[in-house]
Order: sequence, then C-alpha cells, then structure tokens
Amino acid sequence: MEKKSYKLGILVSGRGSNLSSIMDSIDRKELHAEIALVLSNKKEAPALKKCQDRGVPSLFLDPKSYAGKSQYDLALVKELQARSVDLICLAGYMKLLSSEFISAFRGKIINIHPSLLPSFPGLNAQKQALDYGVKFSGCTVHYVDEGVDTGPVIMQSVVPIYDADNEEELSRRILEQEHILYSKALQAIIEGRIRLAGRRTVQKQESL
Ligand code: GRF
Repeated sequence: MEKKSYKLGILVSGRGSNLSSIMDSIDRKELHAEIALVLSNKKEAPALKKCQDRGVPSLFLDPKSYAGKSQYDLALVKELQARSVDLICLAGYMKLLSSEFISAFRGKIINIHPSLLPSFPGLNAQKQALDYGVKFSGCTVHYVDEGVDTGPVIMQSVVPIYDADNEEELSRRILEQEHILYSKALQAIIEGRIRLAGRRTVQKQESL
C-alpha cells in the first residue's frame, strides 16, 4: 500500500520566501510532504504568484468579506479541513489567529519567527535585536498557541550580529537560516521525531 502523503496548509500574507524554500525542499525530496493549500489574507501577496507559477493550489480569502475575525478564521478552517491538511505552517502570515482557529488545529500549527524567542517577539524582531544591542540573534520554529510567539520552541538557529550590521543585512542573514531551519523542523515533525513535554520539545535523533 502506498504511504499516505503528509499534507501541509500554508498561511501567507506577503513575499513568500519561506514558502518557496518549503516548495524547494519538497522538490528536492528532503521534505516528505505536499502542499494541499496556500491561503492568503492579502490579494496582492507575491506568495500567491509563486503558487501560480509552480502549480500549487492557493486561495485568497478577503477578511473584509467576513463579519469578524472568528468568522474569517472559521472560513480558513473550513478550507483547510476540506483538504484534510495534517499540519498548518505560518509563513509570514501577518494576522493573529483566533482561539477558534487554534482549537481546530491544536498542536498542529507551526510558525517561524526571526529572533531567538522568547527575545523579541512580535513585529520587527531584527530591529528589536539591533536596538537592544545583543550580539547574537537568529530564528525560531515554534508551535503556535494563543499568545504572540509564545508556543513551545521546536528548533532554533543562531546568527551572530556584527558591528557593521543594519536591519537589512541582519534580516538577510537570518532569512538564509530560516530557509534551512523551517524545512528541517517540518521534516522532523513529519517523521514523528518531535515530542512535546510540557513547554519543552524533545527531539529523537534521525535514524542512520
Ligand atoms: C520571515 O522573516 C518570518 O520569520 C516572519 O515573516 C517573514 C516572512 O518572510 N514570520 P517570507 O514571506 O517568508 O519571505
């Protein structure tokens, strides 16, 4: 019997470089999944164009067409459930998820954030790190809960901050690591190598 394919639902709002890196990892067969649906809350998101170019199913749902946040999020849930997605990946999705969405997919929503959480949650994480003056920042893949970037950490990559760095240069170097880390974390989850133990996640090593 053929092994069931692992289905990802990806939420985007913008550029979609993490989305592209996930598509590339799937093409290289390093990430054993298929993208069942990409959902955007922004009509003009470049991420949607990337889906069209690569034949990946995508949909723009306009928040203005719904009475409120819960109704909008329930529409997203409906689309994702209709495609039997196994895991939701936030990839530059710039809208906080409602508790209705989180309850529908509890423990199955993953985000990537451009700092070493719990430092510098929320917007402009790279600028926050520079303004604070830390010498290392990086990126974090984590489970999503009701808070802003507060869910259990799955994996992190460290990026040094150099004296000459500005926000653009630091963001560029962090993004390079994001593109490696996100697929690595997703593949570990797909292989069942990530176990949640309270606030911590524990990783079983890859079998050789
Ligand atoms: C990334 O820096 C990601 O960490 C953050 O939003 C940005 C999205 O970039 N959550 P992209 O749309 O994947 O290029």
